[in-house]
Amino acid sequence: MIVADHPLITHKLTMLRDKSTPSSVFRKLADELVTLLAYEATRDVRVIPHHIETPVAPTEGVILAEPHPLIVPILRAGLGMLDGMLRLMPSAETGFLGMVRDEQTLQPTVYAERLPADLTGRQCYVLDPMLATGGSLIAAIEYIFDRGAKDVTAVCLLGAPEGVEAVKAAVGNRDVTLVLGSLDERLNEHGYIVPGLGDAGDRLYGVAG
Ligand code: PRP
Ligand code: URA
Repeated sequence: MIVADHPLITHKLTMLRDKSTPSSVFRKLADELVTLLAYEATRDVRVIPHHIETPVAPTEGVILAEPHPLIVPILRAGLGMLDGMLRLMPSAETGFLGMVRDEQTLQPTVYAERLPADLTGRQCYVLDPMLATGGSLIAAIEYIFDRGAKDVTAVCLLGAPEGVEAVKAAVGNRDVTLVLGSLDERLNEHGYIVPGLGDAGDRLYGVAG
């Protein structure tokens, strides 16, 4: 697990957490934060050697290996992180998973799925701002591994220790990396991250009802 330790990330997270921050600013901050986190998250992205000629001399560089990475935002709130991730890896493809957590049982259900059927050998990046109980992320990881993915990196703005432990226990020795902007204190009795930022989907897009 990587917890990003950078003053700019902490600064932007502080603005994001503030309950007086309006949705328009919240969306911009989430977008900027994911680009900063993506830099850490893509440290092990697969590349292959690539020969080029500069105006001065031939040289060996690298390009992204095929198949290109797959980015999977978990709807709704993960959508707020998609553009920032694609900005860093414009040639990545995108698959979608729609999940909602029952606020009483805290169990996630999948209401939409648009992923390539075959993810054999694929590097996947799951985006979800909130890792609370871990139920949603665990379900997403299972979906992706069931289709043959090679490894999964989950990028979350905030995580709770309870959720991190649940994800670690569920994935076992499979190749999963967690990249967090902050590891917060705990979950409260309603399954919300403390201090957290509230309901990420509502803060991005308004109350769903
Ligand atoms: C939020 C969040 C995560 C999930 C985290 O989504 O975006 O997907 O809760 O909770 P968990 O770790 O306990 O599963 P929510 O269900 O509120 O849906 P939304 O994104 O549509 O608002
Ligand atoms: N989902 C959210 O949006 N926020 C939390 O704190 C927990 C789950």
